[in-house]
Amino acid sequence: MLTKLQQQPADKILALMAMYREDPRPTKIDLGVGVYKNAEGITPVMRAVKEAERRLVEEQTSKAYVALAGDPAYSDAMVGLILGTSVDRDRVAAIATPGGTGAVRQAFELIRNTSPEATVWVSNPTWPNHVSILNYLGMKNTAYRYFDAETRGVDFDGMMADLAGAKAGDVVLLHGCCHNPTGANLNLTQWQAVVDLLNDKGLIPMIDIAYQGFGDGLEEDAAATRLVASSVSECLIAGSCSKNFGVYRERTGLLMAVSETADNTGLTQANLNYLNRQNYSFPPDHGARVVTTILTDDGLRADWAAELEDTRLGMLRLREQLASELQRLCGSDRFGFIAQHRGMFSLLGTTPDLVERLRAEHGIYMVSDSRLNIAGLNSTTVPILANAIAEVGI
Ligand code: LMR
Repeated sequence: MLTKLQQQPADKILALMAMYREDPRPTKIDLGVGVYKNAEGITPVMRAVKEAERRLVEEQTSKAYVALAGDPAYSDAMVGLILGTSVDRDRVAAIATPGGTGAVRQAFELIRNTSPEATVWVSNPTWPNHVSILNYLGMKNTAYRYFDAETRGVDFDGMMADLAGAKAGDVVLLHGCCHNPTGANLNLTQWQAVVDLLNDKGLIPMIDIAYQGFGDGLEEDAAATRLVASSVSECLIAGSCSKNFGVYRERTGLLMAVSETADNTGLTQANLNYLNRQNYSFPPDHGARVVTTILTDDGLRADWAAELEDTRLGMLRLREQLASELQRLCGSDRFGFIAQHRGMFSLLGTTPDLVERLRAEHGIYMVSDSRLNIAGLNSTTVPILANAIAEVGI
């Protein structure tokens, strides 16, 4: 049996992580995988997370199973964080999942179970694992235009024109904020136009929100998701705590399914529970419990939000520093988009050859599509990157 296995396609983000690890050059710079690093190059455990873990160690009396959906207090806290009061709580079914990827996977399986004929529309480009999982599950998927290679902003007209070709019942995968990989995002007027199109054509939105708090602020980054959820009859939302709580390895995510009326929530919840049972039974609990401890304690929540805000502002400063450094070196504003983009990433919009030259000649690692992790930089490495970009002629 095992000898018949085939080689599987490498994930380009994870392959890059391995290459970086093996590079002996002390000056190498990792701008690949989406992990936040502080000025010292460390991915810290956030203060509130440390404190919540300390409390858990002291106070937790059992490690017995919780529930198929995870702890209801976690769902309540996360539904509140992401949706606020935009949707009645009794319309929302939710399960804890192993990270945001787990939520995406469960959402896709739910779609496949209930609408096997639906096509899932994904932005071009999108997080590569979206397409990889859809293909793995044998689900129909197609790309809509998203990134404008000229302006490095959103090709909104192209996006709307492509989505106009979707058929009723198709699913449109949207990034709630901080688009990965491009960093280019819709404004709220554009989101409203997307909502109108979804409703006109009977399309179902699935929102992946993995970077809430990394763009314009916790509330601001949730605004589009709240607008969509409160304006359509049904939607799916995959949330993640990996980045905004820095609990990457704890695998802490959440899938929400919003039904048109509360009458349908019990059935939806039972299906979500069933999906968890089939795939892994009970979802991971530790990260979820840490997050719940933080979100339900005023002091911890305020401290977490403050640290997250410092992180966000630090990334914005790096964006501005890089854009102005490049402006100085190139004598033009053509890299101004870096300061406009939001979230962890910016897509430089250059060729894999030039990305490879950055790696080979300068030890700078970014994904071959030219996605750059801003949070991998610090004020010392920004000028090094800017010089390298200018030197290879991007
Ligand atoms: C990324 O896009 O780099 C992150 O979401 C990590 C991952 O799993 O790919």
